[in-house]
Amino acid sequence: MRRGSIVQLVAIGALCGAGAALAALLIPWLPHAASEQAGRIDFVFWFVTAICIGIFALVAAVIIYAVLNFRAAPDDDSDGPPIHGHTGLEIVWTAVPAVLVTSISIVSAVVLARNDHVPHTSAAEGANPLAPLVVDVTAQQFFWTFKYPAFDNLTSSTLKLPVDTPTELRITSLDVTHSFWVPEFGQKQDAVPGSTTKLVITPTRVGTFPVICTELCGLGHALMRSAAEVSSLAKFQTWTKSSAQQGAPGPGGASGKTVFVNNGCDGCHTFKPAGSHGTVGPDLDKLAAEAQRAGQPLEQFIKESIVNPNAYVEPGFPKGVMPGTFSTLPKTQLDALVTYLAQGAGR
Ligand code: CUA
Repeated sequence: MRRGSIVQLVAIGALCGAGAALAALLIPWLPHAASEQAGRIDFVFWFVTAICIGIFALVAAVIIYAVLNFRAAPDDDSDGPPIHGHTGLEIVWTAVPAVLVTSISIVSAVVLARNDHVPHTSAAEGANPLAPLVVDVTAQQFFWTFKYPAFDNLTSSTLKLPVDTPTELRITSLDVTHSFWVPEFGQKQDAVPGSTTKLVITPTRVGTFPVICTELCGLGHALMRSAAEVSSLAKFQTWTKSSAQQGAPGPGGASGKTVFVNNGCDGCHTFKPAGSHGTVGPDLDKLAAEAQRAGQPLEQFIKESIVNPNAYVEPGFPKGVMPGTFSTLPKTQLDALVTYLAQGAGR
C-alpha cells in the first residue's frame, strides 16, 4: 500500500471520528445523573459509544476512500478482478469484534452487579443512621404508592429520599405489569403483580425528578407519574417526624384528603378541594349531578363508584378504566374518602 493512501485513509477516519465524537459530546443525550448507580450506567454508555465511534471512523474511512479512488469510469462495463479470501484479514475482523463485545459484556456485568448491591455505610462514615433505607413501592393503575417500613409504614404518593443514603426499593404491583423509572437514577425496574423486584438507588443530588411508568399498562399509562424528591438527611427526618405526628397516612385514621392524594385519585380526577386537574376520569366537582343521573343518593353513589367502579360509568367515559382495587381500602379510610368527596361536591 502506498504511503499516500495510508495518509489519506487515516485523515478521512480522523475527520469522521471527530465528527461523531462531537455529536456524542456536544448533544446532551443522557439525563444528568442523580444517583451513584446512574453514574455507572452512564459509564457503560460512554464505553460503548467510544468503541462505536472507533469502528464508525474505520468503516467510514474505508468506504469514502474506496468511493474516491476505485470509482469505475462511466464506459467501463468490465468485471472487477477476481479476489479470494484473505485469511489474515478475516482473523483480524473476527477477533477484534469478539474482544470488543466480550469487554462490553464484562463491563456491563460488573456495573449491574455493583448496582444491585446494597452498600452498607462503613464505620468511617457511619454518620448516616438511615442506611440502608427500605422503601416499598406499589404500582397500580395508574399511580404509585411509597411506603416506609422503618417509619411505621408511613405512606406517601411521592418518593421522598434522603441524599447520599443507599436505598433499596422493593417494587410490586397490585394489578398489571408496570415499570418504575426515574431517568436521573438510571435503571428501570418492572413492577410485577405477585412478586417483588428490587432496585438500589443512592441519590447523589438534591432535587425533584420525575417517576415515570415505562410499561404500557392501560388508558392512564401516560399519566402514571409521580415525583422523586431528594432532600438533605435532616429535611427527610423532619418530614418523617411531622408526618408521623399528624398520624395522617398510617393505617387506620386518615383524613379524606390524605386518602384521596395517597391513593392517586388526583392523578385521574379533577376535584377543586384537592386542587387536582386530572381528566382521565369524570370531574368530581360534578358528583352531585352524576349521582342524580345514576339515580342514587350522593354518598351511596360515591361509595359504590369507588368499590365497584363499573356499576355505573358516567356517559362519555369508557368502562374498565377505574381500577377495582380500591375496594380493599380499610373501612375508616374509605369512609373518610366518601365523606370528603360528598362534602366537596357541594351539598
Ligand atoms: Cu403503569 Cu404504565
